[in-house]
Amino acid sequence: MGTLENKIALITGAASGMGKAMALGYAKEGAHVVIADLNVDGAKTVVEEITAAGGSASAKALNVSNPDESKAVVEEVVKEYGTLDILVNNAGIGLIKSVEETTPAEWDRIFAVNVKGLFFLTQAACVPMRAQRSGKIINMASIAGRRGEALVSAYCASKATVISITQSVAMDMAPYGVNVNAMAPGIVDTPYWKEVDKQFGDITGKAEGETFKDAAAGIPLGRTSVPEDIVPMAIFLAGPGSNYITAQTYNVEGGMVMS
Ligand SMILES: NC(=O)c1ccc[n+]([C@@H]2O[C@H](COP(=O)([O-])OP(=O)(O)OC[C@H]3O[C@@H](n4cnc5c(N)ncnc54)[C@H](O)[C@@H]3O)[C@@H](O)[C@H]2O)c1
Repeated sequence: MGTLENKIALITGAASGMGKAMALGYAKEGAHVVIADLNVDGAKTVVEEITAAGGSASAKALNVSNPDESKAVVEEVVKEYGTLDILVNNAGIGLIKSVEETTPAEWDRIFAVNVKGLFFLTQAACVPMRAQRSGKIINMASIAGRRGEALVSAYCASKATVISITQSVAMDMAPYGVNVNAMAPGIVDTPYWKEVDKQFGDITGKAEGETFKDAAAGIPLGRTSVPEDIVPMAIFLAGPGSNYITAQTYNVEGGMVMS
C-alpha cells in the first residue's frame, strides 16, 4: 500500500516539469491526482501516462491567476471525489530582466501567477480542508526566494512572498489540522529553465544551454537537478510523515544555500 493511498491530490502546473513528476510520484503512492494546468492537452497526456501505469488521474483546465476559476476547480474536485486532501501549488512562471528594464506589466504577470494564483487557490482549498479538519498544502517556492539574484528581481520577490504566505496560511490553518509547507528547488532541468536560459543568453550573450551548464559549478552536490529529485520531499510533505511539521520551506537544491 502506498503512502498516499485513496488521497485526492490537486497539483497545478502538472502538465510539465516538476508538477508532472510529482503527479506521477503521487499516483504511484496510490493517490488520485487531479492535473490542473493552463495547458489542458498536456494535462490529458499526463493523465494517459498515469493511467497506462495503473494509476488514477484526471485533468482540469485552470488558469490559477483567475481566483474564480480556482474556486470552481476546488468545488468540482470536492463534488466529484468527495474531498480534497492535498493541494500542490506548483504552477509558476519566470522572468529574466534587470531591475531597470522590468515593466509594470511584467511585474503584474509574474505576481498574478506565482503569488495571487497561489494565494487564491489556497484560499479555496482551505474551505474543504478546514471543514474536514485535515489536509496538506505544499507550495512551490525556490532558492530565488531565499536571496536576491541579479536579473531575477521580480521572480525572486514573488518566491520570497510564497515563503511568507506559506508561514501565514500555516498559522491560520494549524488549529484545523492542516499542514502547510513549501519546497525550494534550485536549478531544475525543465521547460521553464530552457526559457530562463534563453532569456539570460539574450542579455549576457551566452549560447543556448551555457547558463544552465555553468550553474552546476555553484552546486555543492556537483550537478543540476531533474524534476524527479524533488519528488521524495513532495511525497513526504503530502503524507503522514509531515503531520507534526508546518510553516516550513525545505531547500531541495544540492546544497546551494543554507537558510
Ligand atoms: N525549473 C527550476 O529550476 C525551478 C527552480 C525553482 C522553482 N521552480 C518553480 O517550480 C514550479 C514548476 O516549474 P517547472 O520548472 O516545472 O516549470 P514548467 O514550465 O516545466 O511547468 C510549469 C507548468 O505550469 C503551467 N502554468 C503556467 N502558468 C499557469 C497558470 N497561470 N495556470 C495554470 N498553469 C500554469 C504551465 O502550463 C506548465 O505546465 C514553478 O513554480 C517554478 O517557479 C522552478
